[in-house]
Amino acid sequence: MGYNIAIDGPAGAGKSTIAKKVAKELGYIYVDTGALYRGMAVYFLENGVSTEQIDKIGLMCKDAVVTLGYEEGVQQVYLNGENISGKLREEEVGKMASVSSAIKEVRMQLLELQRDLALKENVVMDGRDIGTNVLPNAETKIYLTASVETRAKRRFLELQEKGIPCVLEKIAKDIEDRDYRDMNREVAPLKQAKDAVYIDSSEMSIDEVVAEILKHCK
Ligand code: DC
Repeated sequence: MGYNIAIDGPAGAGKSTIAKKVAKELGYIYVDTGALYRGMAVYFLENGVSTEQIDKIGLMCKDAVVTLGYEEGVQQVYLNGENISGKLREEEVGKMASVSSAIKEVRMQLLELQRDLALKENVVMDGRDIGTNVLPNAETKIYLTASVETRAKRRFLELQEKGIPCVLEKIAKDIEDRDYRDMNREVAPLKQAKDAVYIDSSEMSIDEVVAEILKHCK
């Protein structure tokens, strides 16, 4: 059994940046579970499913085999054997992942994969239901959040740096919509586990958050 650190929280709270740093500091494997849901979403989009056709998703997901690998320590996602890591961050894929991750069949299919990884390795796993559902016995649980304004501003600056045109208000609205979907779905909604440490990173630097998390890892 590995040592398991679960980091949950809403989109844009800085989970992946922080989880990666914590993993590096401890020599653990970082598992980005959102990438698994995004991998499934790529399959649905490539097979012509839109976010309005959720009834099709439950039946289709059996044909989408998503697996993880590591290249020079960087997580890679494979869809039916093909490395699709380059497609995961597209806006459309994020939206589809937020919708399709509410479907019970999708979640069931990815559950074993996540638990298997955590059984074999010391992991820092980030997502929405890791501490509540995937790894309820994780040794350390963190609920990492930040205000909608802070998260929208961070995303706005990130896109601007990449030269991608964007509107702050639209980003904030998308974040609110995604929070609503992730927190109000029936299956495994995003919520703080009873035994999770709550961290609001709105006024904290990345290194401060990493240091705070490390304090809670024995
Ligand atoms: O963290 P992310 O933005 O890459 O995740 C994409 C979507 O996947 C997100 O809207 C919610 C879903 N997700 C989930 O339901 N459970 C997880 N453990 C991780 C992500």
